[in-house]
Amino acid sequence: MTSSLDAITTEQEAAKRNLWLHFTRMSGYADHEVPVIVRGSGAYVFDQHGRRYLDGLSGLFVSQVGHGRQEIAEAGARQASELAYFPLWSYAHPKAIELAQRLADLAPGDLNRVFFTTSGSEAVESAWKLAKQYFKLTGQPERYKVISREIAYHGTSMGALAITGLADIKYPFEPMTPGGVRVPNTNFYRAPSFVGDDLEAFGIWAADEIERAILREGPKSVAAVYLEPVQNSGGCFPPPPGYFQRVREICDRYGVLLVSDEVICAFGRLGYYFGSERYGYQPDIITFAKGVTSGYAPLGGMLVSDVLMEPFSSGTATFLHGITFAGHPVSTAVALANLDIFEKEDLLENVRTNEPKFRATLDKLSDLPIVGDVRGAGYFYGIELVKDKVTRETFDDDESERLLRGFLSQALFDAGLVCRADDRGDPVIQLAPPLICGQEHFDEIEGILRAVLTEAWTRI
Ligand SMILES: Cc1ncc(COP(=O)(O)O)c(C=O)c1O
Repeated sequence: MTSSLDAITTEQEAAKRNLWLHFTRMSGYADHEVPVIVRGSGAYVFDQHGRRYLDGLSGLFVSQVGHGRQEIAEAGARQASELAYFPLWSYAHPKAIELAQRLADLAPGDLNRVFFTTSGSEAVESAWKLAKQYFKLTGQPERYKVISREIAYHGTSMGALAITGLADIKYPFEPMTPGGVRVPNTNFYRAPSFVGDDLEAFGIWAADEIERAILREGPKSVAAVYLEPVQNSGGCFPPPPGYFQRVREICDRYGVLLVSDEVICAFGRLGYYFGSERYGYQPDIITFAKGVTSGYAPLGGMLVSDVLMEPFSSGTATFLHGITFAGHPVSTAVALANLDIFEKEDLLENVRTNEPKFRATLDKLSDLPIVGDVRGAGYFYGIELVKDKVTRETFDDDESERLLRGFLSQALFDAGLVCRADDRGDPVIQLAPPLICGQEHFDEIEGILRAVLTEAWTRI
């Protein structure tokens, strides 16, 4: 008979020998256990030893309704026994139709057509392909470039990677798909000095940088601008007031499509179904994934208006793009059950009511010498760590390595908090708890961060 300890040892050996973790230094596990998460319930997950962790990142910005929801699991199981699979290539199935209609009803303005994918990267890449083919069909074949912001993450497949603004994760895969163009992001904490004390002026400057990029590249060559409502990478950069309104004007002036990449920001993360609703702008395309199913099955997609659909709606025109598992029956059934919970439990209202409390609880950490900036919106925050609060000096590569990789990530996990303490090298702690969380969870997050960050300061 094998003991549970033997079973864990065997599992560890297999994890180290056969499994390849994503964006992970596998060498780090040579003398270290691979954390194995075996179960979830509400805002908590449990590892192979039965230890409990507060899921401060909703897995990966995914688990909006929390873990262990039987009604979603049952909706998936029911669908699998009725119709486990059929493609959306020339056929439809009822749950894809129902979900498309429901998303069209929830989406801002005239976005009423859904093209499903299985992931965020595919959604981002599908939107680029749609923009390219749309412009080819409408007599502007030279429009192919896409503008996005520095440090922004838009996915890892080759097209999405070309839109992503993180040099380090692109370099090994050069040459990139041609057409990616970068502009500044809205990190006000590190704004250039000439707009450093005026948030609105900073926002106008950052938006106008998009216009300058369009003019530099040649207005007739630019197809789309990709922006997240709140940029994730770099640690939660909300848009300054007026930023998106200005960007919308610029896009309209040059006939460029505005893609709101809401893979993180949709489905309640900012207290609204869509982040663009919160900031009052109308995108031409919304890309989504993650929270649409709260992770109970994979699903992504893009929402577009009839204007973009029009050239494809007559004659032989076809959007020449498809993905076997996109709009999977189980995933769409699960998404519908997920949205039922949003309604039944009024999760958007929960986020809106609690947002100031979450922010106030995190702001308490500002008394620590290592905390430079606390920023974000909704249930989506970044805490930037600094070496010197007054000068805002950040850590050099060595210190980042020692502090972030060598201490913080593991110490936070050991203390019972899942969050990200190393956003691809930036000294930022990211928090995005499930939307069911309340004050007791915020207090738990604050308590753990306070203890671990206090210890981190002594190690610099
Ligand atoms: C804004 C944004 N776009 C795209 C992606 C890629 O999504 P996926 O990992 O599902 O391919 C992500 C993933 O975190 C994201 O945050």
